[in-house]
This record gives sequence, structure tokens and C-alpha cells, in this order.
Amino acid sequence: MEAIFTPRSIRRYTDQPVAAGAVEKLLAAAMAAPSAGNEQPWEFIVVTDQAAREAITHVHPYSQMLKQAPVAIVVCNDPARSRYPVEYWVQDCAAATQNILLAAADLGLGTCWLGVHPVPERVAGIRRILAIPEPIVPFAIVAVGHPAETPGRVDRYDEKRIYHERYGR
Ligand SMILES: Cc1cc2nc3c(=O)[nH]c(=O)nc-3n(C[C@H](O)[C@H](O)[C@H](O)COP(=O)(O)O)c2cc1C
Repeated sequence: MEAIFTPRSIRRYTDQPVAAGAVEKLLAAAMAAPSAGNEQPWEFIVVTDQAAREAITHVHPYSQMLKQAPVAIVVCNDPARSRYPVEYWVQDCAAATQNILLAAADLGLGTCWLGVHPVPERVAGIRRILAIPEPIVPFAIVAVGHPAETPGRVDRYDEKRIYHERYGR
């Protein structure tokens, strides 16, 4: 519960690098996520190169923290890994992305989830910068680093969003 309620999106980072072992743990956590039919349709690109991170900020308008965050993990979907006709890959990749956030919190790292799919110009721009071929889809980017800010815990619990037995009251 602590790992769920305490962390917030971090958009300011220190200069301290992220240990390679920590990145590996984040990726292991991502790959431990549930997926429909256990298809695990994800792939990951670990981006540490400063120029590449800066280039991303030119194609993704809400990613300025990538100039500071020492690591960006790009969560991708490979459609060829899906055997079933139902498109569950968005949920699968979202579960993997959230696992990265939770694992990072456990390691004392800060993160910010940056949405990529389904915004066509972000998908195209990130494909170009990171040489991602069709039909691989960059789904999201997770900025990772040591936090230089500590936004407070928030309580979003809203009982008006909850119904019992059937929709409505
Ligand atoms: C699908 C998705 C896309 C997001 N995209 C961005 C983004 O592009 N840039 C950004 O700074 N934050 C992004 N966020 C983070 C949200 O803004 C953030 O989670 C939300 O405002 C709640 O704040 P908190 O995470 O600090 O609790 C995204 C979050 C999700 C789940």
C-alpha cells in the first residue's frame, strides 16, 4: 500500500545516475506483469544517451524532464507476439508500465509515465529517434532517476465513483 499511495510523478531529478542493476530490476518487474493469454507482447528500450533523450523532448511536448532524468525506459508492443485476435496489448503494456513505477518506488527512484500511443506524431517521432521498425509500437516512456522533488501524497478516493451490484444509485 505504501508503494501505491506515496509515489507521485517526478519531473525533477538529481544528477545521480541510476545503477544498471536497478534498471534490470525495473525490467524484471515490468515483465512480471499480467498479460492477456500470458502473451507478454512487450519489449523495452533503455535509453541513457543524453542526445536521444533530448531529441524525444522535441517530439513529445510533455517530456521535458527527460533532459534531467538519466534513464528513459520505452515500453513497446510487438504485435507479432499476440496469438489471439483480441487486442489486449494496451492493457498488457499498461500493466508492465505500472509495474516499473511500483518497482522504482520500492528502490527509492522517481518516475514519470509519459504517454506515447495512441498519439500518431509521438509514435512516429519516437520510432524515428530510436530506430523502431514497423510494426513495433512505442507505447509509453518511463522517465527514471533519483528524485529532486517530493510531491506530497494525495488522496483521490471518491466514493461517488463506486456503485454496488449495478451501475447507478
Ligand atoms: C497514460 C498516461 C500518460 C501520461 N503522460 C504524461 C506526460 O506525457 N507527461 C507528464 O509529465 N506526465 C504524464 N503522465 C503522468 C500524469 O500526469 C500523472 O500521473 C497524473 O497527473 C497524476 O499525478 P501523480 O502521478 O503525481 O499522482 C501520464 C500518466 C499516464 C497514466
